Amino acid sequence: MSKRVVILGGGVIGLSCAFSCRLRGHRVTVLEKGRCGGQASGAAAGMLAPFSENTEGADDFFRLCLASLRLFPQWAEQIGRVSGQDFEYSQTGSLYAAFHDADVLAMESRLGWQRNYAGGARIVEGEMLRLVEPAISGKAVAALHNPEESHIYAPHYVKSLEQACRNAGVEIYENLEQADIEQWRQDVAVRSKNGSTFAGERLVICSGAWAQELERIFGLNIPVYPIRGQICAYSIPAGTVRHMVFGSQGYVVSKANGTLVCGASEDVSGFDDSVTDNGISRLRRWNKQLFPFLEERQPFHKWAGLRPATQDGYPLLGALRGFGHVVFAAGHYRNGILLSPVTGSIAADLIDGRLPAVPLDSFSPERFTN
Ligand code: FAD
Ligand code: GLY
Repeated sequence: MSKRVVILGGGVIGLSCAFSCRLRGHRVTVLEKGRCGGQASGAAAGMLAPFSENTEGADDFFRLCLASLRLFPQWAEQIGRVSGQDFEYSQTGSLYAAFHDADVLAMESRLGWQRNYAGGARIVEGEMLRLVEPAISGKAVAALHNPEESHIYAPHYVKSLEQACRNAGVEIYENLEQADIEQWRQDVAVRSKNGSTFAGERLVICSGAWAQELERIFGLNIPVYPIRGQICAYSIPAGTVRHMVFGSQGYVVSKANGTLVCGASEDVSGFDDSVTDNGISRLRRWNKQLFPFLEERQPFHKWAGLRPATQDGYPLLGALRGFGHVVFAAGHYRNGILLSPVTGSIAADLIDGRLPAVPLDSFSPERFTN
């Protein structure tokens, strides 16, 4: 039966939950205190990289990320069709570079477990590495190649997702400055700063790095913190960098518009999302080590966003015990773009009272509360 769903937060997670719920026939309202995609989501590099972002082993978080990667082709097609807008979705594959022989040993053990999940993963070394990625530093000794990892252009993706929501009939209210939950135990009421009240039967919390503000309302520990990511872009000739390339200090992603996006710092700076000289200098030093041709270049664009980090690195994803009409979808830290389709699908399942296909035990929003 169709429900009135109120979604707090219009980042990629809020919009994905809105789109999925709307496709299931619910009446959906998104409340955003600023602009949709105006925070972490619009700042992202757009990598869909479960293997490169999870190097330790196949835990529940990796499996969630992988499930989402595999939903992306159909999800992207659906968003493109409903929005009538294109966004870049490039299946370039990735290379995770090593600069020391000792690092190749660790890479071999990573390949050992990743092979069980990744078709075509392999280690490329020496001449072969330079053949597949000609501009990479001569000091790189090997790289773990994962052909399945891909990337999207995040600002356009989020805009298309917002447009898809609007075209599908989601009501979106932006620039609310603040939206406060007034009632949630039975029916839901959220009040904006200008005095409007938005009522519903279901509530989805997608407030990213600001989720901790809700601790008092729900009586829960919600250890979600902002971790600033500073990032920059160079202008380069198309085709100079062929893959997404990761290293121990960061990553570079070549976009179809001729930019090379290079990220990103992980700063503890509260809600300060400014760009600093130190942060960008550090990125530049590392970028030159990976791609020496960048020595000659200056980034033409620098920006930053606040990732929603959690105490244990896992998102808060699930319905509250005893209050199944309240769903949390926050704290996606470094992987919110990648996790957007699976999060949307899980939120819609929970709103429908269905058991999601992905087990959620590890992601309970109440796991930090005694
Ligand atoms: P946000 O986009 O921050 O959205 C939360 C929204 O909630 C905000 O717009 C905020 O204004 C709103 N809000 C908060 N409180 C309220 C309230 N009370 N009322 C109304 N609205 C409210 N992820 C990847 O998967 N791949 C990448 O390559 C990648 N690269 C990144 C690079 C950088 C530099 C950064 C910073 C992040 C990157 N990420 C990446 C991470 C990704 O951007 C985040 O995980 C994702 O954007 C989180 O989405 P969100 O919707 O939860 O948060
Ligand atoms: N996932 C890349 C980043 O968060 O910087």
